[in-house]
Amino acid sequence: MEVKLAECAGFCFGVKRAIDTVYEQIDTGKTIYTYGPIVHNEEVVKELEQKGVHVIEDKDELTALAAGDQATSSGEGARQESQNAAVIIRAHGVSKATQERMEQMGLECIDATCPFVKRIHRIVEKAGKEGMHVVITGNPGHPEVEGIKGWCTGPVTILETEEEAEKFTVENGQKVCLVSQTTFNYNKFQYIVEIFQKKGYNGNVVNTICNATEERQRAARTLAAEADVMIVIGGKHSSNSKKLYEICSRECAHTYFIQTLDDLHLELPKAVRLVGITAGASTPNNLIEEVQNYVRINF
Ligand code: F3S
Repeated sequence: MEVKLAECAGFCFGVKRAIDTVYEQIDTGKTIYTYGPIVHNEEVVKELEQKGVHVIEDKDELTALAAGDQATSSGEGARQESQNAAVIIRAHGVSKATQERMEQMGLECIDATCPFVKRIHRIVEKAGKEGMHVVITGNPGHPEVEGIKGWCTGPVTILETEEEAEKFTVENGQKVCLVSQTTFNYNKFQYIVEIFQKKGYNGNVVNTICNATEERQRAARTLAAEADVMIVIGGKHSSNSKKLYEICSRECAHTYFIQTLDDLHLELPKAVRLVGITAGASTPNNLIEEVQNYVRINF
């Protein structure tokens, strides 16, 4: 039986960069906070917590930290000196208001927003200033989309489905700037572009879907099509991991979605020739290797 890893799997450039930033900051001896979990992977977040990195969950906690009475995420309620603390903005980015709030509060703010997400912030900010209606294709509840929305300076609409795109209208003659959440499905985005073309909207269409996502999806689809069993490793809150699972399930009936090796309860029939493995952009290499080795040794 062969065990094969998808050609592209695991940490993407932006996530690796954000995690490296956290590790660099740990070495400075400051108290390190991340605004939201640094990646959608509980294992990575747990490991960082053990190294003393705290997660700020919301604006109230941010305010409390600035006031110097932050209750840490581990619940000790210890007082932390905000002067010796740094807040790291994760790869997904945050809204302009949140970033400004951090700065105004006097917190040292380290921006680890992925440069590809930062580019979207700049596009929508400029489009708003030019009087365009910004449309973001993506999941409205996703922090990346909330962050992008928070850089818009004029009208903004978030569309998740083709049906929503059909219903969407703009004021007569107003230009539209269409961008996408970086992990949005490319085909869906293309459909929405076509709907907008049919409606005769003018403006900009910028495909801001990240290559890392496309590459991972393509590689996962190719491998799942030939595999008898597919294993997708990723955080349960990671949208790109869930999409990989969706894609693989369509190609391979025996697809498993796991967070860690503990979730893997494989029962392989004798006829299985190829087990394929892929992983979301927030899955660390050591976890991928662990799963690979386990399947190789045990089956
Ligand atoms: Fe950045 Fe793409 Fe990763 S946008 S965070 S490199 S999936």
